[in-house]
Amino acid sequence: MGNAPDLSTTYLGIKLSGPVIASSGPMTRQVDTMLELQAAGAAAVVLPSLFQEEAEAEEMQAYDLAEMADGFAEFASAPLPEMDLADVGPARHIQLLKDAKEALSIPVFASLNGTNLGGWSRYAREMQDAGADALELNLYSVNADPSEAAGVIEDRYLSVIDAVRKAIDIPMAVKVWPPFSAFSNFASRARSAGADGFVLFSGVYGTDIDLDTLKLTSAVPLTQSDRIRLPMRWIGILDAQLPKVGLAASSGVHTWSDVLKLLLVGADVACTTSAVLRGGAGVITSMLDGLRDWLIEHDYVSVTQLQGSMNLAHVGDPGAYERDAYIKTVTSTPVIV
Ligand SMILES: Cc1cc2nc3c(=O)[nH]c(=O)nc-3n(C[C@H](O)[C@H](O)[C@H](O)COP(=O)(O)O)c2cc1C
Repeated sequence: MGNAPDLSTTYLGIKLSGPVIASSGPMTRQVDTMLELQAAGAAAVVLPSLFQEEAEAEEMQAYDLAEMADGFAEFASAPLPEMDLADVGPARHIQLLKDAKEALSIPVFASLNGTNLGGWSRYAREMQDAGADALELNLYSVNADPSEAAGVIEDRYLSVIDAVRKAIDIPMAVKVWPPFSAFSNFASRARSAGADGFVLFSGVYGTDIDLDTLKLTSAVPLTQSDRIRLPMRWIGILDAQLPKVGLAASSGVHTWSDVLKLLLVGADVACTTSAVLRGGAGVITSMLDGLRDWLIEHDYVSVTQLQGSMNLAHVGDPGAYERDAYIKTVTSTPVIV
């Protein structure tokens, strides 16, 4: 048997020991579970997002308390308890980031989740100052205002990307969810606005009903491997259209073969949340072991040797990525009775 293949990859200009990273989720909420992910072979971790609404609400609460304390101070017979600003949302995130940076040897990415211009530039800079190696900007929003056209919403996203880009020097990836009418166009404008890469895609969250209480529910469903198909398609397309852009696959990464397929279409890294939530950090070790075995068996010496070799530019049949594949699938699938 030859030498072990080189699993290292470069994402957003950052050299990583391997192609699997732990995406935002419950396992990256605490330093001890992040250490488990690192020990299992995760090449980087992405912290849970600081949500715009959470930051704004908690800042407002802190502000109200401070105002109240000021107003009452002269009447109060005893001093009001000191408010510890470290307890409000953004400060908690920054502290987790600092703790993770101190404890881990792999890169730590911070995450912001918001779609309006707000205090984003400030939080992004605080995350950079706290040591974040890169920033994920998650643009998740449900756009259900019939008077607002897609172009207006996209322009708003682009202005957020632009503002955050101007506030930080570290690499920035933009994480989106699938509903875009013209994603290649948006991705190319987002790149011009300062996105160094994309995380495709954040989960697809819909609406459900609890039939006992007749209430709408919004549980975050865990995925299965079949969900890699959408990231595969768009990574395969963007890898050919936006050379040198950072591409992270998210959604449905459960096995070594999922990782391999995503690398073949051009992903720099594959991110996993559901798989490690179900099976523990060791799932990452299995992904890396399986990938290594396949590379050896097929005489590849490194991950970089195969990355993008099946992207849109290389398949020789662009239809395979586009409408043809859909037409073939829906017209040739046999009826099962
Ligand atoms: C319980 C849970 C919490 C999550 N929290 C975040 C978050 O804070 N920020 C974010 O960008 N994505 C978050 N995600 C989305 C994941 O990072 C990931 O994009 C998504 O789960 C799809 O990947 P998977 O198929 O590996 O689960 C969360 C997912 C789950 C299941």
